[in-house]
Amino acid sequence: MSEDQQLRVSKITEGTVIDHVTGGQALNVLAILGIDGSGGEEVSIGMNVPSERLGRKDVVKVEGRELSQDEVDVLSLIAPAATINIVRDYDVVEKHRVERPSEVVGVLQCPNRNCITTKDEPVDSRFAVLEEGVRCAYCDTIIRESIADHIHVD
Ligand code: CTP
Ligand code: ZN
Repeated sequence: MSEDQQLRVSKITEGTVIDHVTGGQALNVLAILGIDGSGGEEVSIGMNVPSERLGRKDVVKVEGRELSQDEVDVLSLIAPAATINIVRDYDVVEKHRVERPSEVVGVLQCPNRNCITTKDEPVDSRFAVLEEGVRCAYCDTIIRESIADHIHVD
C-alpha cells in the first residue's frame, strides 16, 4: 500500500500522538486526558485501524499538548503497548513506549466509600499496580476491570 492509502488521520503540527493503543480504548484515553470536547482541544482519533503489531489499534492525536508523567502512567494500565510520540513542527522529536509504574498517585479514585482517600480530608489516592489491576494502598480495595471508570475527576 502506498503511504497515501495508509494515512487515515491527518498529521499534526505540534503536540502528541498516542499510537499503538489497544483497539477499542481510544475513548478511555480521552477520559484519562480529561478531554471531552468542551475544552476546545483539537483531537483526531483512529479506531480499530489495522496494525502489523497489534492486529487492530487505536490512535489518538492531540494538537498542542504534551502529556504529564501521571497521565502516561495511567495510560499504560489500559494501553500497555502504546507509544507516545511528541511532535514539533510536523516531526516526531521524541518517541517512547509507556511503562507500567509500580504505583499511581492521585489519579484514580478508590471505589470504597469508607476509604480515607474518599473522605473530606485531602488525602491523595495511592494505588499499587499489580499484574491484574490496581490495589488501594489505604484500604486494599482492588480494581480489576474498567480502570478508566475510576479516574479521579475534580
Ligand atoms: N504523526 C502525526 N503527525 C506528525 C508526525 C507523525 O500524526 N506530524 C503520527 C504518525 O501518523 C504515526 C505516529 O505519529 O501514527 C508516529 O509517527 P512515525 O514515528 O513517523 O511513524 P512510525 O515510524 O510508523 O512509528 P512506529 O515505528 O512507532 O510505528
Ligand atoms: Zn481505598
